[in-house]
Amino acid sequence: MSKNICFIDGLEGILKYREIDVNELVDLPYDAISYLLIQGELPGEQELAEYSARLRGERKIDGRVVDVIRMCNFDIDAMEALRTIVSFMSQFDPDLNDNSPEGNMRKAVRLIARIPTIVATYYRMANGKEPITPDPALSHGANFLYMIRGSKPDALEAEILEKDFILSAEHELNASTFSSRITASTLSDLYSAIVSGLCTLKGPLHGGARTEVMTMLEEVACPENAEEFVLGKIERREKIMGFGHRVYKTYDPRGKIFKQLAKELAETKGDMHWYETAEAIENVAIRELVEKKGKPIYPNVDFYSGVIYKYMEIPPQLATSIFAIGRVSGWIAHCFDQYERKKIIRPRAFMLDEC
Ligand code: ACO
Repeated sequence: MSKNICFIDGLEGILKYREIDVNELVDLPYDAISYLLIQGELPGEQELAEYSARLRGERKIDGRVVDVIRMCNFDIDAMEALRTIVSFMSQFDPDLNDNSPEGNMRKAVRLIARIPTIVATYYRMANGKEPITPDPALSHGANFLYMIRGSKPDALEAEILEKDFILSAEHELNASTFSSRITASTLSDLYSAIVSGLCTLKGPLHGGARTEVMTMLEEVACPENAEEFVLGKIERREKIMGFGHRVYKTYDPRGKIFKQLAKELAETKGDMHWYETAEAIENVAIRELVEKKGKPIYPNVDFYSGVIYKYMEIPPQLATSIFAIGRVSGWIAHCFDQYERKKIIRPRAFMLDEC
């Protein structure tokens, strides 16, 4: 069954969730994609309405969880807070150690619904503001933007964030999903498996690259500086963040969609600055790495998503945790598959040489 969750053709640049090309899925609501990943097929109208209602009804977080967020160090990345809070939150879940499919589904809904609320609450408090109560009338993406800003987002921003969550939702056996699966393979609880995923996602070679991309855009500052910046990185043998992938040896299909979305947002805002700065970095990197050196290093999922956050005025401190908001559905789909197998994952040390 796990083979069906995701399919990647790294040479052709094809990505499918449950055998459906991601290009066909990106216009649907995030809730439908979450359902697809976890239940194995797209929901009908009624099923989607019911699933969305369940998610929207579980967005609020317990007062004790809010109290612990208030005690966090607000100078850290939101991922560090998220990791701690998801772990703490598990203590109040009545289904914590109920590993039946029904108990696990109830936890899954709470995790998917509440992770955005945790991130937004942390962000509001870090900025000296009171948290915003989630609005059940809003979509997953619109509600998250509302909770961080305190005002309803426009339709385009809400739509782009939904697409961001969808494009971040699943990617086969990437490092964080593998982490979650290993924890689930011991039959540990779903919260523990998701905490494992969070801990792994935050690394700069994985989801943490999105934060680094935003910092890099600020450092480069304008298209004219891209040439010197990229050449300097290559000369010092440093990685350019948001580029390269273990599986894709061509343009990451998610990267292509993100690039188009970033352009649309830039044009709508009448401000091409960040888009053009990113495109200038991309052009030099492709010229130097792909065309001159023959290395298949193209923008990945983290590059133009970082550009989108610049336009949405989302700070780098939140970038990786927003990735996690989308990815949690994929982690859960893999954990459920792993629970069904009832088989511990136990690789041998010699396999490390193949990684
Ligand atoms: N910038 C410059 N050179 C690069 C880059 C990059 N971003 N990525 C790979 N290369 C080069 C390496 O220096 C290496 O060159 P060499 O053969 O001359 O030594 C070659 O390409 C192969 O690189 P590896 O690091 O061995 O490739 P690997 O498959 O192990 O790593 C990874 C993939 C981790 C994604 C890598 O490309 C990287 O570090 N990218 C930057 C971080 C990043 O954007 N991570 C997000 C990935 S997507 C995700 O996880 C959500």
